Amino acid sequence: MFYTTDSNRHGLAHDPFKAIVSPRPIGWIGSKGGDGSINLAPYSFFNAVSDRPKLVMFSSSGRKDSQRNAAETGAFTCSFVSRNLADKMNLSSAALPYGDSEFDFAGLTAKQAELVDAPYVGEAFAVLECKVTEIIEPKTLSGEPSENVFVFGEVVGIHIDEAIVRDGRIDMSLARPVARLGYMDYSETSEVFEMFRPRSQQG
Ligand SMILES: Cc1cc2nc3c(=O)[nH]c(=O)nc-3n(C[C@H](O)[C@H](O)[C@H](O)COP(=O)(O)O)c2cc1C
Repeated sequence: MFYTTDSNRHGLAHDPFKAIVSPRPIGWIGSKGGDGSINLAPYSFFNAVSDRPKLVMFSSSGRKDSQRNAAETGAFTCSFVSRNLADKMNLSSAALPYGDSEFDFAGLTAKQAELVDAPYVGEAFAVLECKVTEIIEPKTLSGEPSENVFVFGEVVGIHIDEAIVRDGRIDMSLARPVARLGYMDYSETSEVFEMFRPRSQQG
Protein backbone atom coordinates (compact mmCIF):
# COMPACT_ATOMS: atom_id res chain seq x y z
CA MET A 1 0.00 0.00 0.00
CA PHE A 2 1.16 3.52 -0.73
CA TYR A 3 -0.82 6.73 -0.46
CA THR A 4 -0.08 10.42 -0.55
CA THR A 5 -0.97 12.40 2.54
CA ASP A 6 -2.43 15.33 0.56
CA SER A 7 -5.38 13.10 -0.39
CA ASN A 8 -5.05 10.79 2.66
CA ARG A 9 -6.78 8.10 0.59
CA HIS A 10 -5.44 5.09 2.48
CA GLY A 11 -8.77 3.29 2.22
CA LEU A 12 -8.60 2.17 5.84
CA ALA A 13 -11.33 2.76 8.39
CA HIS A 14 -9.01 4.96 10.46
CA ASP A 15 -5.99 7.15 9.71
CA PRO A 16 -2.93 4.92 10.28
CA PHE A 17 -0.34 7.72 10.75
CA LYS A 18 -0.23 7.69 14.54
CA ALA A 19 -0.30 3.88 14.59
CA ILE A 20 2.81 3.81 12.36
CA VAL A 21 4.80 6.24 14.47
CA SER A 22 4.49 4.25 17.66
CA PRO A 23 4.98 3.39 20.43
CA ARG A 24 5.29 6.99 21.58
CA PRO A 25 6.30 7.94 25.11
CA ILE A 26 3.70 9.82 27.10
CA GLY A 27 4.80 13.06 28.73
CA TRP A 28 2.37 13.75 31.52
CA ILE A 29 2.66 17.52 31.57
CA GLY A 30 2.18 19.31 34.90
CA SER A 31 1.94 23.08 34.78
CA LYS A 32 0.76 26.10 36.71
CA GLY A 33 -1.13 29.09 35.32
CA GLY A 34 -0.28 32.70 35.95
CA ASP A 35 -3.33 32.67 38.27
CA GLY A 36 -1.76 29.89 40.38
CA SER A 37 -4.11 27.12 39.17
CA ILE A 38 -2.54 23.72 38.55
CA ASN A 39 -2.99 21.53 35.49
CA LEU A 40 -2.11 18.04 34.30
CA ALA A 41 -2.52 16.43 30.86
CA PRO A 42 -0.93 13.59 28.85
CA TYR A 43 0.90 14.37 25.58
CA SER A 44 2.20 11.64 23.27
CA PHE A 45 3.52 14.12 20.74
CA PHE A 46 6.28 14.30 23.30
CA ASN A 47 9.87 13.20 23.42
CA ALA A 48 13.41 13.80 24.61
CA VAL A 49 15.11 15.51 21.66
CA SER A 50 18.65 16.11 22.97
CA ASP A 51 20.81 15.01 25.89
CA ARG A 52 23.38 17.86 25.86
CA PRO A 53 21.57 19.94 26.90
CA LYS A 54 18.75 17.72 28.10
CA LEU A 55 15.79 18.97 26.04
CA VAL A 56 12.26 17.64 25.82
CA MET A 57 9.31 18.90 23.81
CA PHE A 58 5.56 18.44 23.64
CA SER A 59 3.24 19.46 20.85
CA SER A 60 -0.17 20.91 21.52
CA SER A 61 -2.72 20.20 18.80
CA GLY A 62 -4.43 23.55 19.08
CA ARG A 63 -4.34 26.00 21.98
CA LYS A 64 -4.58 24.08 25.23
CA ASP A 65 -4.02 24.80 28.91
CA SER A 66 -0.60 23.08 29.24
CA GLN A 67 0.92 25.18 26.47
CA ARG A 68 -0.75 28.34 27.82
CA ASN A 69 0.57 27.71 31.33
CA ALA A 70 4.08 26.86 30.12
CA ALA A 71 4.11 30.17 28.23
CA GLU A 72 2.81 32.08 31.27
CA THR A 73 5.17 30.66 33.87
CA GLY A 74 8.10 29.42 31.76
CA ALA A 75 8.01 25.98 33.33
CA PHE A 76 6.47 22.53 33.22
CA THR A 77 7.09 19.03 34.52
CA CYS A 78 6.89 15.65 32.72
CA SER A 79 5.82 12.74 34.87
CA PHE A 80 5.99 9.23 33.45
CA VAL A 81 3.14 6.74 33.41
CA SER A 82 3.50 3.20 34.72
CA ARG A 83 0.84 0.54 34.09
CA ASN A 84 -0.87 1.05 37.46
CA LEU A 85 -1.40 4.75 36.62
CA ALA A 86 -2.76 4.26 33.08
CA ASP A 87 -6.42 4.79 33.98
CA LYS A 88 -5.63 7.94 35.93
CA MET A 89 -3.49 9.23 33.06
CA ASN A 90 -6.47 8.73 30.75
CA LEU A 91 -8.82 10.50 33.20
CA SER A 92 -6.42 13.45 33.33
CA SER A 93 -6.93 14.02 29.59
CA ALA A 94 -10.47 15.28 30.29
CA ALA A 95 -11.04 18.77 28.93
CA LEU A 96 -11.85 20.45 32.24
CA PRO A 97 -12.55 24.18 32.40
CA TYR A 98 -9.40 26.29 32.71
CA GLY A 99 -8.30 26.42 36.34
CA ASP A 100 -9.85 23.07 37.38
CA SER A 101 -7.24 20.58 38.58
CA GLU A 102 -6.93 17.27 36.71
CA PHE A 103 -4.85 16.05 39.69
CA ASP A 104 -8.00 16.23 41.85
CA PHE A 105 -10.24 14.92 39.05
CA ALA A 106 -8.04 11.83 38.52
CA GLY A 107 -7.25 11.27 42.22
CA LEU A 108 -3.53 11.98 41.92
CA THR A 109 -1.14 13.67 44.33
CA ALA A 110 0.08 17.06 43.10
CA LYS A 111 3.57 17.74 44.41
CA GLN A 112 5.35 21.05 43.95
CA ALA A 113 8.55 20.77 41.88
CA GLU A 114 11.88 21.57 43.55
CA LEU A 115 13.34 23.95 40.97
CA VAL A 116 10.45 25.20 38.83
CA ASP A 117 7.00 26.55 39.61
CA ALA A 118 4.93 23.60 38.44
CA PRO A 119 3.27 20.52 39.97
CA TYR A 120 4.09 16.89 39.22
CA VAL A 121 2.48 13.50 39.84
CA GLY A 122 3.65 12.26 43.23
CA GLU A 123 2.89 8.62 42.28
CA ALA A 124 5.08 8.67 39.10
CA PHE A 125 8.26 6.55 38.84
CA ALA A 126 10.20 9.45 37.32
CA VAL A 127 9.67 13.15 36.76
CA LEU A 128 11.54 15.80 34.77
CA GLU A 129 11.47 19.41 35.92
CA CYS A 130 11.75 21.70 32.88
CA LYS A 131 12.27 25.35 32.09
CA VAL A 132 10.80 26.54 28.79
CA THR A 133 13.49 27.34 26.22
CA GLU A 134 11.39 27.96 23.11
CA ILE A 135 7.78 27.97 21.96
CA ILE A 136 7.46 27.43 18.24
CA GLU A 137 4.43 27.72 16.00
CA PRO A 138 5.36 25.37 13.14
CA LYS A 139 4.39 26.05 9.54
CA THR A 140 3.02 23.66 6.93
CA LEU A 141 4.78 22.85 3.64
CA SER A 142 3.00 25.77 1.98
CA GLY A 143 4.17 28.15 4.68
CA GLU A 144 0.77 28.42 6.33
CA PRO A 145 0.65 28.44 10.13
CA SER A 146 -0.44 25.05 11.48
CA GLU A 147 -2.69 24.73 14.51
CA ASN A 148 0.11 23.19 16.56
CA VAL A 149 2.35 24.70 19.17
CA PHE A 150 5.67 23.10 20.12
CA VAL A 151 6.91 23.72 23.65
CA PHE A 152 10.58 22.95 24.27
CA GLY A 153 12.04 22.78 27.75
CA GLU A 154 15.44 22.16 29.27
CA VAL A 155 15.44 19.56 32.02
CA VAL A 156 16.88 21.13 35.17
CA GLY A 157 15.96 18.49 37.75
CA ILE A 158 15.00 14.81 37.76
CA HIS A 159 13.12 12.72 40.33
CA ILE A 160 13.49 8.92 40.31
CA ASP A 161 11.65 6.44 42.51
CA GLU A 162 14.50 4.29 43.83
CA ALA A 163 12.25 1.23 43.66
CA ILE A 164 12.99 1.07 39.91
CA VAL A 165 16.79 1.26 40.30
CA ARG A 166 18.62 -2.08 40.14
CA ASP A 167 22.40 -2.50 39.99
CA GLY A 168 22.86 1.22 39.46
CA ARG A 169 20.56 1.41 36.45
CA ILE A 170 16.93 2.21 35.90
CA ASP A 171 15.20 -1.08 35.15
CA MET A 172 12.27 -0.44 32.83
CA SER A 173 10.90 -3.91 33.50
CA LEU A 174 10.28 -2.62 37.05
CA ALA A 175 8.92 0.77 35.96
CA ARG A 176 6.64 -0.79 33.30
CA PRO A 177 6.08 2.45 31.36
CA VAL A 178 2.95 2.82 29.26
CA ALA A 179 3.32 4.05 25.67
CA ARG A 180 0.78 5.33 23.18
CA LEU A 181 0.10 3.31 20.06
CA GLY A 182 -2.42 4.34 17.40
CA TYR A 183 -6.20 4.47 17.78
CA MET A 184 -7.18 3.74 21.40
CA ASP A 185 -4.26 1.33 21.86
CA TYR A 186 -1.53 1.43 24.46
CA SER A 187 1.40 -0.83 25.26
CA GLU A 188 3.23 -1.65 28.46
CA THR A 189 6.94 -2.46 28.45
CA SER A 190 7.08 -6.07 29.54
CA GLU A 191 10.29 -7.30 27.90
CA VAL A 192 13.66 -5.57 27.78
CA PHE A 193 16.63 -6.81 25.76
CA GLU A 194 20.17 -5.48 25.28
CA MET A 195 22.22 -4.85 22.13
CA PHE A 196 25.72 -3.47 21.92
CA ARG A 197 26.68 -1.10 19.11
CA PRO A 198 29.26 -2.24 16.54
CA ARG A 199 32.84 -1.10 17.08
CA SER A 200 34.28 1.25 14.43
CA GLN A 201 36.64 -0.43 11.86
CA GLN A 202 39.19 2.34 12.60
CA GLY A 203 39.22 1.22 16.22
C1 LIG B 1 -2.37 9.24 25.79
C2 LIG B 1 -2.79 10.61 25.34
C3 LIG B 1 -1.92 11.37 24.58
C4 LIG B 1 -2.28 12.63 24.14
N1 LIG B 1 -1.40 13.36 23.40
C5 LIG B 1 -1.71 14.62 23.00
C6 LIG B 1 -0.77 15.39 22.28
O1 LIG B 1 0.36 14.97 21.99
N2 LIG B 1 -1.14 16.66 21.90
C7 LIG B 1 -2.36 17.17 22.22
O2 LIG B 1 -2.63 18.31 21.88
N3 LIG B 1 -3.27 16.45 22.94
C8 LIG B 1 -2.96 15.19 23.33
N4 LIG B 1 -3.87 14.46 24.07
C9 LIG B 1 -5.13 15.09 24.46
C10 LIG B 1 -4.92 16.02 25.68
O3 LIG B 1 -4.44 15.29 26.79
C11 LIG B 1 -6.27 16.67 26.03
O4 LIG B 1 -6.69 17.49 24.96
C12 LIG B 1 -6.21 17.48 27.31
O5 LIG B 1 -7.51 17.90 27.66
C13 LIG B 1 -5.32 18.69 27.19
O6 LIG B 1 -5.27 19.28 28.44
P1 LIG B 1 -4.79 20.75 28.74
O7 LIG B 1 -5.74 21.69 28.01
O8 LIG B 1 -4.94 20.83 30.23
O9 LIG B 1 -3.37 20.89 28.27
C14 LIG B 1 -3.55 13.17 24.48
C15 LIG B 1 -4.45 12.39 25.25
C16 LIG B 1 -4.07 11.13 25.66
C17 LIG B 1 -5.03 10.31 26.49
